[in-house]
Amino acid sequence: MATSKETGKQPSALSPRRLLQWAASPAVLDFIGRDRADAVASFVNNNLILKLRQRRAYAQSQAQDEAAQAYLKTHFCRRPFNTMETTHTGLVFACCPVYLPTPIGRLDENHRDVWHSDIANKIRDSIIDGSYSYCDHVNCPFIAGRQLEPRDTDEAREFIEHHRKGRAVAPPPLQVVLSHDKSCNLACPSCRSGIYVANKARQAKLDDLTEKSLLPMLKDAGEVIITGSGDAFGSNHFRNLIKRLTASDDYKDLQIHLHTNGQLFDERAWRDLNLSGHVGAVQISIDAAEADTYANVRRPGNFARLLKNLAFIKTKRETGEIQHLMFSMVVQDANYREMPAFVRMGQDFGADSVMFNMYRQRDVFSKGEYEDAFIGDPHHPDHADFLEILHAPELYLPIANLGNLAAYAPAGWLDADKHPIGQAAE
Ligand SMILES: C[S@@+](CC[C@H](N)C(=O)[O-])C[C@H]1O[C@@H](n2cnc3c(N)ncnc32)[C@H](O)[C@@H]1O
Ligand code: SF4
Ligand code: SF4
Repeated sequence: MATSKETGKQPSALSPRRLLQWAASPAVLDFIGRDRADAVASFVNNNLILKLRQRRAYAQSQAQDEAAQAYLKTHFCRRPFNTMETTHTGLVFACCPVYLPTPIGRLDENHRDVWHSDIANKIRDSIIDGSYSYCDHVNCPFIAGRQLEPRDTDEAREFIEHHRKGRAVAPPPLQVVLSHDKSCNLACPSCRSGIYVANKARQAKLDDLTEKSLLPMLKDAGEVIITGSGDAFGSNHFRNLIKRLTASDDYKDLQIHLHTNGQLFDERAWRDLNLSGHVGAVQISIDAAEADTYANVRRPGNFARLLKNLAFIKTKRETGEIQHLMFSMVVQDANYREMPAFVRMGQDFGADSVMFNMYRQRDVFSKGEYEDAFIGDPHHPDHADFLEILHAPELYLPIANLGNLAAYAPAGWLDADKHPIGQAAE
């Protein structure tokens, strides 16, 4: 039997990950129904998986070498001071839960109490003391890619001062990330085993949440990101919410950032959702530069349709109706060779940035499938080839961002403007 690369131990038949895989399997979904399977998955995630991730984050923070400690003590992350993220398991976080796996409260609680909860304040303290002990130091692209902001700026000092003065002074979250609906028009193998669209009952609950929690929460916010869980255009709940936001003067200053696979992002959706004048940044996850690869990693996505939509999106970027356009790729065995071409694709379609991040283990695929796809493992047969690709000049262009892949990059990548390859690529 294979051993776990993370622990070196035999994977337990009753490990939390196995339970999640079980709850997501088609046979179980058919037998107990999606709602019950989701409830099991939420329980396992909230009570077991998160605890493991929290312990791992803490251990990573304790294991940082002197250079990393010095870096963290002289840099700052504003996310826990200005960001709140909802999840489909009903919890609320002060950053992406993959990067910072400790929840600060629940979605059904008063959002102001959640924002000022004891644990939220402890997380902020850990940024200020430079330990980052709640953060996942390997998965967080800002830590792994050394992309935190310097600590000695007026803005960082202001965040810290407001935090110290407490609830009466500390501002509400500027940025709210909505990730509580997994509904999506695609079933990318990196993310899920089949198409998931919330049923009518679940949608009604979500829309109820719009009235009770989301609209009040967003009145205080400056930016909303839709979505990190499903798709901004593939979710009826999010489409309904966007329509509410763009129709009301109460939200005229709220910027909507869209995170989407782009398949449904066309002129008609732009019009139906009344997006003009409301959009800030747009992130399109594409994961491929060639049609065959796209068909494999973004199922059942249509590459020709994507390209048509990207041409439309480019026009919105050119008029400034989209303020920042990012293309992103989750790097895995199936697509790493296309990284340089993907940067060129970003240039062709007017992207401001092209972001790469490493493929992560998720409960929807087996450990064997993960090991086949995870190109970051030095034992992977294509790992050396992957490292070679990271020398490609395109990856040193200013628009290329290696995210948490920076840990694999040649020494000069983080300092690309001084790197000889970077200069050649300009
Ligand atoms: C879950 S999606 C939701 C937003 C939208 N549907 C999209 O694909 O952009 C959020 C991000 O997770 C990424 N993702 C999916 N599976 C992943 C995996 N196994 N490891 C790392 N990132 C993954 C997607 O590429 C996307 O950028
Ligand atoms: S350092 Fe990374 S994990 Fe920690 S709060 Fe900032 S973005 Fe989140
Ligand atoms: S498009 Fe996004 S949410 Fe949908 S399956 Fe793919 S990665 Fe997941």
